[in-house]
Amino acid sequence: MREKLHALQSEALEMIERVTKLDDLKGIRVKFLGKKGPITEVMRGLGQLSPEERPLMGQLVNEVREKIQAVMEEKQAALEAKQLEEQLASEQIDVTLPGRTVPVGSIHPLTRTIQTIEDIFIGLGFEVAEGPEVEMDHYNFEMLNLPKEHPARDMQDSFYITEETLLRTHTSPVQVRTLLAKAGQVPVKIICPGKVYRRDDDDATHSHQFTQIEGLVVDEGIRMSDLKGILLEFAKEMFGADQKIRLRPSFFPFTEPSTEVDISCMICKGEGCRVCKETGWIEILGAGMVHPNVLRGAGYDPERYTGFAFGMGVERVAMLKHGVEDIRNFYTNDLRFLRQFSHL
Ligand code: DAH
Repeated sequence: MREKLHALQSEALEMIERVTKLDDLKGIRVKFLGKKGPITEVMRGLGQLSPEERPLMGQLVNEVREKIQAVMEEKQAALEAKQLEEQLASEQIDVTLPGRTVPVGSIHPLTRTIQTIEDIFIGLGFEVAEGPEVEMDHYNFEMLNLPKEHPARDMQDSFYITEETLLRTHTSPVQVRTLLAKAGQVPVKIICPGKVYRRDDDDATHSHQFTQIEGLVVDEGIRMSDLKGILLEFAKEMFGADQKIRLRPSFFPFTEPSTEVDISCMICKGEGCRVCKETGWIEILGAGMVHPNVLRGAGYDPERYTGFAFGMGVERVAMLKHGVEDIRNFYTNDLRFLRQFSHL
């Protein structure tokens, strides 16, 4: 029995020595020290030994078991340390590697242009208002002094949804909505950016959907010179301090008098070039003094209050500012086009 125990011990120690995996070590533990293992068997057999031999053998079995256990624990600690080291090595991060670039989008040039125009007007004391894109004929035309069958409706060929609703053809209905909401209060000083829709054939300068910014100021004593002053300030901030503006007589049913506003050509500085068709001037918006019928219809006494309004095309401003030659570029989402504005 003594020899058997010694043999067991050397066999176990040898196996432990050779083992390289924690799982295998577990197997060895079960094999030698488990309930059905040889050590347990020897211990069970102690009862059959003579009383003199029993304590000696008992002690020997214990020594062998403790020896195997101790070596096993040592090995386990070593294997665990090795495993941890391997894990750390495999999870090591090389901080000198170049970072992964995450692609980020940028703000659309039209949105950026709207933001720039908003900032300019907010700086001049305006508030930003909004209105629905699906609009009632009533606000889009009628309250703007354009009754049904009015020939000027032809200027804005429309997408009708029902007899009474349409996709708004301009942002001017927001004038009416704002005045009604203000219910006779002054001052009114708003700009309104938004999408508008017209039945146009798309080409380099026309789009069936485009963007406008409307402006409206109503108070006592508002004059045409106020309109001119505000628009000159806008032109300077948008296109440069040396900008000039020019007002030409025009017609809009919702303003009287009405005017078309030109700015001096920012390309040739008024000398005459292809962009301004050799005139030195570029038309950028329509404007005028709010028609008494519009004021009256919205609950403002035109004998007491006056106001001016204007409407400009955002695409046109953006095209002039950035030298874009085809309005469709804003809608076709070609990244090569859009990326040119990512720094703005
Ligand atoms: N609504 C006009 C258009 O779309 C632009 C316009 C002209 C707006 C004169 C105004 C204005 O507010 O006073 O053609």
